[in-house]
Amino acid sequence: MKPIVPYTSKGFNTGKIAVEIAKELNCGSLRITQSSLANSVDLDNYDLIFIGTGIHFGNPNEDLISYLNRILRDLSNLVWSRKG
Ligand SMILES: Cc1cc2nc3c(=O)[nH]c(=O)nc-3n(C[C@H](O)[C@H](O)[C@H](O)COP(=O)(O)O)c2cc1C
Repeated sequence: MKPIVPYTSKGFNTGKIAVEIAKELNCGSLRITQSSLANSVDLDNYDLIFIGTGIHFGNPNEDLISYLNRILRDLSNLVWSRKG
């Protein structure tokens, strides 16, 4: 299994957690910013993608939304979520 931990973080709270998760999984973390979006790594090379973001005013980080919009076009993985 080859994991990676992409994340967005305004105040670096999520960043600290992402780094710890990556340490546990013995893999890399990848900070997503607007300027890094185009150059981010090829996720086809990974088979576990652990995405993290802080929430501000009820929303995930806007850079994460852009990132997901891009990778979901590229990946054939099924993404699901639940709450409540
Ligand atoms: C201005 C501001 C707005 C926030 N809004 C929310 C929110 O709507 N819901 C929530 O659960 N947490 C909210 N939080 C808490 C952040 O999600 C939390 O501090 C998170 O760890 C920030 O992650 P980051 O530092 O990696 O960006 C807010 C924090 C700040 C500073």
